[in-house]
Amino acid sequence: MKIISVVGARPNFMKVAPLCRALKAYPQVEHVLVHTGQHYDVRMSEQFFKELDIPNPDINLGIGSGSHAEQVGKTMIAFEQVVRAEKPDWVVVLGDVNATIACSITAKKEHVKCAHVEAGLRSRDMDMPEEVNRLVTDRLSDLLFTPDRLSDANLRAEGVPEERIKFVGNIMIDTLEREREKASALDLNAMVRENLVEPSNSQTFKLSNDSFVAMTMHRPSNVDQRETLVPAMRFFLDEVAKAYPIVWAIHPRAQKMLKEFGLWDEVVAHPNMILVNPLGYHAMLRLNMGAKLFMTDSGGLQEECCVLGTPCLTMRWNTERPVTLVEHGGASRLVGNDVGKIRAAYHEALSTDRKPSRPELWDGHTAERIAQVLAT
Ligand code: UD1
Repeated sequence: MKIISVVGARPNFMKVAPLCRALKAYPQVEHVLVHTGQHYDVRMSEQFFKELDIPNPDINLGIGSGSHAEQVGKTMIAFEQVVRAEKPDWVVVLGDVNATIACSITAKKEHVKCAHVEAGLRSRDMDMPEEVNRLVTDRLSDLLFTPDRLSDANLRAEGVPEERIKFVGNIMIDTLEREREKASALDLNAMVRENLVEPSNSQTFKLSNDSFVAMTMHRPSNVDQRETLVPAMRFFLDEVAKAYPIVWAIHPRAQKMLKEFGLWDEVVAHPNMILVNPLGYHAMLRLNMGAKLFMTDSGGLQEECCVLGTPCLTMRWNTERPVTLVEHGGASRLVGNDVGKIRAAYHEALSTDRKPSRPELWDGHTAERIAQVLAT
């Protein structure tokens, strides 16, 4: 039996690592790993392969950056050749990035069965490119591996036949459980210093657990418009950074927009704004383990905060991962990009203790369940 798994962008890599390992237990499975090349930097891609022991991709499509249509279109054209040459029994796509939609469409058009890992998540926000990717991929996939029961209910409500839905738990947590020891062994200050964006900037900081705020922010809805980014940055600079050092793992898109809106020099010069490059997996986990509070617009970090218990402000108006919210027992509060709301939740979260929570089947064995369904 031949299975092709496809990855394209950073959030895919921590999901495919446990799947590669789990499929190895089945000698009858020939596993081909395809990287579309959407993320191509060492920091956005290669370091995850090294840290998480992901085998080198068998095939790299070298797609690179571009508009959504360019990325999806180029991926489909290149992946069609791969499917025709490899003739797989299954194509496995993960998450909600452009590789996910491109390769699920291509697989089905080539009459190959498609399985989606992390199916059924819905933000119901069609302005999010990821929501479009999720909807199309789930509509086409033959097997839908879901991370939680709420996702099962979403799929049922859309009329997906019961036999296609497989509740297996959250594959991200397989990686978190396997890697947490290595992460906790990292020296926080040395790790941050190694990753500084401006290493020449002789910033003095001495971070300790619970003494700093961690941040990531990169969604187009938060960083692409001046009216949204500038007031949020004023709150971070003038209020949060007055009280706590902020360690911001800054995505290339956010860096570009800060420069465009004339905020970059002020952010870099602020003594309590510690800008680090996109972090590797262990470094990000170490940061999360030590943070008093996490401010993020990432989906994956909401899940990691939930399991680690880090109070999390999710800078979005909706989430496809409601199981991570405080009202479902998780650690995350939705705050959108309204400064009044962010401020109120920030003060509330500061007085909240770390409270780990583990949704059903977020137990570190999701990939084994997936491999068993696919291989037997
Ligand atoms: C993609 C995913 C998003 C995920 C994010 C995490 C989609 C639709 N979106 O968004 O779900 O949260 O990755 O990282 O697939 N760039 C680099 N180096 C790289 C890759 C990109 O500098 O290795 C630059 C590009 O030039 C581009 C920008 O970063 O201008 C954005 O990259 P892109 O892949 O288009 O989307 P992301 O915003 O990263």
